[in-house]
Amino acid sequence: MQPIFLIGFMGSGKSTLAKALGRATGLDYIDLDTYIERRFHANVSEIFAREGQARFRELERRMLHEVADFENVIVACGGGTPCFFDNMEFMNSKGLTVRLDASLGRLLERLSKGRRRRPLIKDMTDAELETYIAAELERRMAFYGRAQETFGADRLDDSSQIEESIKEFTTRFNIPLKP
Ligand code: S3P
Repeated sequence: MQPIFLIGFMGSGKSTLAKALGRATGLDYIDLDTYIERRFHANVSEIFAREGQARFRELERRMLHEVADFENVIVACGGGTPCFFDNMEFMNSKGLTVRLDASLGRLLERLSKGRRRRPLIKDMTDAELETYIAAELERRMAFYGRAQETFGADRLDDSSQIEESIKEFTTRFNIPLKP
């Protein structure tokens, strides 16, 4: 099976869904940020702070090309992955791209809790975060809009919601569950 790339804004649930899909199907799941962190022995915030975003985007692209050659994997991309270089076209040529769509309210809720480890938003107030999400999401839709498929990702916030989402996802994309 070709890779499945989960794309979408920060907080849309890419890592949560990829991990749960991996567990349910037996497919390997790769979180691209974690993959970068392991390979370069630094977390994403450190790479941004020490080397800048442009360098991070180069590493992200290199690692994307590496994981795209793996078989039977679900890749949770970073929120910005589709928006740099030709990454979106590249993913579309290598596998199935699925955009996770969560509402602005849900993104805000998730990101106001999880902003510390995300360098682009870590110093924002709640009000700044809301403005940023709305504007950046609109800008990024130019890239996200090229995903082959979309999947509703508002319901990924507890184990029963995750289980339902896994059922829906695996049925829709015809992925067998682990026996
Ligand atoms: C980013 C999203 C992050 C991470 C980095 C930049 C972005 O990944 O790659 O902080 O540009 O949207 P998540 O979407 O997993 O938070």
